[in-house]
Amino acid sequence: MKLTIAILPGDGIGPEIMKQGLAVLEAIAKKFNHEFIYNEAICGAHAIREVGDPFPEQTFKTCMKADAVLFAAVGDPQFDNDPTAKVRPEQGLLAMRKKLGLFANIRPVATFDCLLHKSPLKEELLRGADFIVIRELTGGMYFGEKYQDNNKAYDTDIYTRPEIERILKVAFEYAMKRNKHLTVVDKANVLASSRLWRQIAKEMEPLYPEVTTDYMFIDNAAMRVLTEPRYFDVIVTENTFGDILTDETSCITGSMGLQPSSSLGEHTPLFEPVHGSWPQAAGKNLANPIAQILSAAMLLEHFRLNREGKLIRQAVDASLEANIRTPEIQVEGGGNYGTTEVGQWIVDWINNQ
Ligand SMILES: NC(=O)c1ccc[n+]([C@@H]2O[C@H](COP(=O)([O-])OP(=O)(O)OC[C@H]3O[C@@H](n4cnc5c(N)ncnc54)[C@H](O)[C@@H]3O)[C@@H](O)[C@H]2O)c1
Repeated sequence: MKLTIAILPGDGIGPEIMKQGLAVLEAIAKKFNHEFIYNEAICGAHAIREVGDPFPEQTFKTCMKADAVLFAAVGDPQFDNDPTAKVRPEQGLLAMRKKLGLFANIRPVATFDCLLHKSPLKEELLRGADFIVIRELTGGMYFGEKYQDNNKAYDTDIYTRPEIERILKVAFEYAMKRNKHLTVVDKANVLASSRLWRQIAKEMEPLYPEVTTDYMFIDNAAMRVLTEPRYFDVIVTENTFGDILTDETSCITGSMGLQPSSSLGEHTPLFEPVHGSWPQAAGKNLANPIAQILSAAMLLEHFRLNREGKLIRQAVDASLEANIRTPEIQVEGGGNYGTTEVGQWIVDWINNQ
């Protein structure tokens, strides 16, 4: 298969983990005779410094022309620590999601048996947990009207019927492909926007009679994903709740550095780790490249390259089993492996199959 992939390494640890993601993609291309064409583009703080825009028009065009986007992360302390900065890297992230119409962010949450002990949660609660969180990505408070002066500030949590219907459709369809259990997470006891979500979900339920649909308030869901993670199959929720819930679920996996995601919508699909640019680790060969590598696997699986995706997943499992791990998940007395060593080990494993 021939695929054109827009490559957006971004800031901080982004370029280092992207390098490993690309090395894995190349190993797969060679083994399975695919042709992947990579078009790199700038975004985030890096792009602000170069052209004054965190998601420049040229980058947008590169994404639109590609079959898929592989993104790492953006963010930089220079902007995080300056509340007066008019242009911020994260604006590029929001612009990218909005302009590419990426309204559905899909985050698988699964456990690795050999890492259960790394979770702050009890192993017996976690074993076998396997669900996905579908987060609405282009609506709600992050995009609604905002106002701020010295005495008053507000953000508007706004959703329209078409926005809710299209994300719920994605969620019901994922539930049909999985274990047919959908949990709609909202705050319908307090928020009008949540009440509309719930109303529309109930209207859509009869279209998917095989799916068991239930409803949970976000505060309850925040507790249940930690105390009873095996309860869930597919969770769907709005933008802000999804942002918080998915960072929380990273405790289940054991590290932020292990979680990939995909963002789907109207234009080019995008694949990215759930974590940020971890600026403190930039250039130190510390960051776990696995979330980026598994994002590449999700990209391939999106194009039905399932054997290829599976091989990457097997390589990642093998690296974890062999204790070829970055420091945040290494066992006591385990070896010293950095971003490059873990990536290279995974590439070598693929080459040797
Ligand atoms: N999608 C994105 O691009 C995105 C998402 C979240 C945050 N950000 C930005 O990233 C910057 C840093 O934000 P933050 O510190 O809140 O979040 P972060 O995800 O960058 O880092 C939080 C913590 O997660 C761990 N971590 C993250 N990536 C890891 C990896 N690959 N391997 C091992 N451990 C990893 C580290 O312990 C780190 O301290 C900020 O500028 C923020 O705005 C960007």
